[in-house]
Amino acid sequence: MQALGSKNVTMQALGSKNVKAHSTARGSSYRQRLQYHRQLVTTSAQQEEGVQQQGAQPSPDMAPVIAASPRPSIPQLQEAVAEYLSLSEEEIEADMASAAKTASLWELLNNPEQDNTIFGNRARSATDANVLRRKGHLKEQDFLIDFMRRMHETHSCLEVMTKMEKWVNEHRKDPLRSRLKRLVPQLGQFFTPLHLVDAFLEYDEVFKLSRRKFIPPNFAELRHVVNIAQIHASAKNLRLITFDADGTLYADGCHFEQDNAMIAHIINLLQCDIHVAIVTAAGYPGEAQKFEGRLAGLLNTFRKLHLPPSVTDRFHVMGGECNYLLRVTPEDKRLEFVPDEEWKTEEMCRWHEDDIQYMLDGAEMLLMKGAKRLELEVSVMRKPRSVGIIPISPTIYEVLEDIALSAQTQLVANVPFCAFNGGNDVFVDCGNKSLGLQALMTFLGIQPHETLHVGDRFTLSGNDSATRDMCSVLWVADPNETGFFVRLLLKDIARRDLEAQHEQTMRRKLLLDV
Ligand code: IMP
Ligand code: MG
Repeated sequence: MQALGSKNVTMQALGSKNVKAHSTARGSSYRQRLQYHRQLVTTSAQQEEGVQQQGAQPSPDMAPVIAASPRPSIPQLQEAVAEYLSLSEEEIEADMASAAKTASLWELLNNPEQDNTIFGNRARSATDANVLRRKGHLKEQDFLIDFMRRMHETHSCLEVMTKMEKWVNEHRKDPLRSRLKRLVPQLGQFFTPLHLVDAFLEYDEVFKLSRRKFIPPNFAELRHVVNIAQIHASAKNLRLITFDADGTLYADGCHFEQDNAMIAHIINLLQCDIHVAIVTAAGYPGEAQKFEGRLAGLLNTFRKLHLPPSVTDRFHVMGGECNYLLRVTPEDKRLEFVPDEEWKTEEMCRWHEDDIQYMLDGAEMLLMKGAKRLELEVSVMRKPRSVGIIPISPTIYEVLEDIALSAQTQLVANVPFCAFNGGNDVFVDCGNKSLGLQALMTFLGIQPHETLHVGDRFTLSGNDSATRDMCSVLWVADPNETGFFVRLLLKDIARRDLEAQHEQTMRRKLLLDV
């Protein structure tokens, strides 16, 4: 019944539109118009001939529209039908394409159905923008997790985790010739062991993966299990945790609000003697106040709590992937740039300004070409170390993905670059987060197994993927997940510190006894 209802409503909208402009109608597709004209021919013919066939009556939904519309004569209609039928294949194609463009899909996607009297609540949600936009799959690409998922076709969850844990250990010993490398050739390094069985059992207690008969673990669930194993492993030696900003600490394009739960977590981490840095693509050369603006909630809290410099000195921001390093000023807790010569790697210092501009020119050209091919209206943002396109007409993740991957695969340059899909934009930056992390870790004197990066974009088109070369990672879907995993980490760290204290006390006691 619902399906029938929705068909009639579509017809209703089409009908009233086409009657008004039937002779020049270009706004609806060939098929829609033909369908409508056929219907009108039938209805008018029945009326003129005085035929009263029960089954051929317009539906009650259609009736008021047809009755209220000026009725073209039968010859007129037949002429119109003949006109459409005489179109060549190419004309029909072109007609359908232009009709598709002007059709109201975008309207429908951008203005969720308000009137639920026709469809009822369930059907109404199907017209909501989010349904078609929330495809999810492209954001969930990972060779290792996909491999684990496929293993569930022949193994139980526990068997998968047991084998994986063993293979990860083997791979850590011989990363180039391990069995896991042969099975998943794209695999990189693991900087810590991963106790996947324990993590799985912990997760299973809540989500009952092992008790499910028909529903194997999905991508997100496997990602969660791997994250939990990574947290328990990293907590043991953690000295530096870095966070991506957009999509990880706050929603894309937003900033730290005063009440952001992550503020407390970051301060707790700093107080546990752990260095914290935000490693973000966002870059504002020479404008520390712009970085401050996005982190205002956090910096205000530093001030309010009168945190000593010994704590806030452990906080940094790496902006523009790897191009700008900022620290907190000791007294007023503002941000200031760390002079390049104090932290930039030799490789970065060798980048030639001409090569950077040449790369950005090429990137801008490729981004514009991609936008043109996909008929996307964009505005261009060019900065000294990056270039991006920002859509000014509605679009979807997949279109941006296509542009990002085109730029990534076609750009040739003498300096490293990162072309990525930001979710609402596409950027090409000079350098990448791996280089940013490398410089930061050297600056702070911290090793890969002591570092953890938390980010939301680890797919081929994501700008967090590069960090995998430098340290362990946590892949989160949104800021809520970041909060959850950081709380888990803080618990582990508290336990670690307690155990260390206990051990120290015991040692002192032993010494006294001696
Ligand atoms: P991230 O997720 O914190 O790395 O930030 C990525 C987002 O930062 C992009 O999607 C853009 O919206 C924004 N952004 C602002 N300035 C820049 C820039 O110069 N390069 C790249 N991204 C930028
Ligand atoms: Mg992000």
